[in-house]
Amino acid sequence: MSIAELQKMDVVTKAVPTAQPLRKIVIAVDGPAASGKGTLARKIAERLGYAYLDTGALYRAVALAVLEMNGDPSRVGDVMLAVDVVKRNLTLELLASSLLRRPDVSEASSKVAALPEVRTELLEFQRSFAKNPPGEVGGAVLDGRDIGTVVCPDADIKFFVTAKPEERAQRRFNELQWHHPLLTLEKVLADLLQRDQRDKTREVSPAYPANDAYLLDTTKLSPDEVLDTAIYTVQKKFLGATDDHA
Ligand code: CDP
Repeated sequence: MSIAELQKMDVVTKAVPTAQPLRKIVIAVDGPAASGKGTLARKIAERLGYAYLDTGALYRAVALAVLEMNGDPSRVGDVMLAVDVVKRNLTLELLASSLLRRPDVSEASSKVAALPEVRTELLEFQRSFAKNPPGEVGGAVLDGRDIGTVVCPDADIKFFVTAKPEERAQRRFNELQWHHPLLTLEKVLADLLQRDQRDKTREVSPAYPANDAYLLDTTKLSPDEVLDTAIYTVQKKFLGATDDHA
C-alpha cells in the first residue's frame, strides 16, 4: 500500500503525531506598589529558568517618555505619542533603566496606566511575551497589576503579593534614599498610597486579586522566605496536590 493510500485511511497521521511545540507555563505575579512582587517574580524566573517581564516598566517607560517630551501624563494625545516612541525603541536596557525608578516617573506611570488607549497598546506585547517568551525557556513570569485578571487570565499559577503600607513605604524609601536624599519616609508613604488608590479605582483593569490567585503577605517575610513559599505552591500545584488558596 502506498503512503498516499495510507494517508487517505488516516493511518500515517495517526501513527506519527506531528510534534506540537510544548505550551509554555505562565506565572502571574500581581500586587500593589513595593509589595515585593517584582523581587518575587524575578526570583521565581531565575529559579525555574523562565523568562521574566516587569510590566510596570512598560508603563514607566511611557511615563518617562511623556515627561521628557514635556507632555501631560493624563492627556491621551501626549501619552499616545510617547507610547509610539517607546514601542519603536523598546529594549531590555530601557526596561531596566534606573531612570524609570524616579519618584516623578512612578507618579506619572499610574496616570498613564489609567488611560484605556495605553493599556490596549501595551496588551499585545505582554500577551505575546507570555505565549512566546524569548529564549529556549519553559515559561514566563510576568509581574504587574492586572496579569492574572486581564493580561493572562488563563495563567497556570497566579500570586497576589501584599504587605502593610508602612512596610512597603520603608522598602521603597530604602531603595530610593541614596539617589534622592531630600525624600522622606512620610512622602514615600503618601505617594505610594495615592498611586495604590489610583490603580485600584481606575475604570480599566483596576488592580485587584484574581479569584484564583494565591495571596502572599510579605510584611514579615524575607525575600527568600517569600520565594520558598511561592516555589512550594508551584510544586504542589503541578503535583496536583492542592487547591487550598491562602
Ligand atoms: O514597582 P511598583 O510596584 O512601585 O510599580 P510598577 O510595578 O513598576 O508599576 C508602576 C505603575 O504602572 C503602577 O502604579 C500602575 O499604575 C502601572 N501598572 C499597571 O497599571 N499595570 C501593570 N500590569 C503594571 C503596572
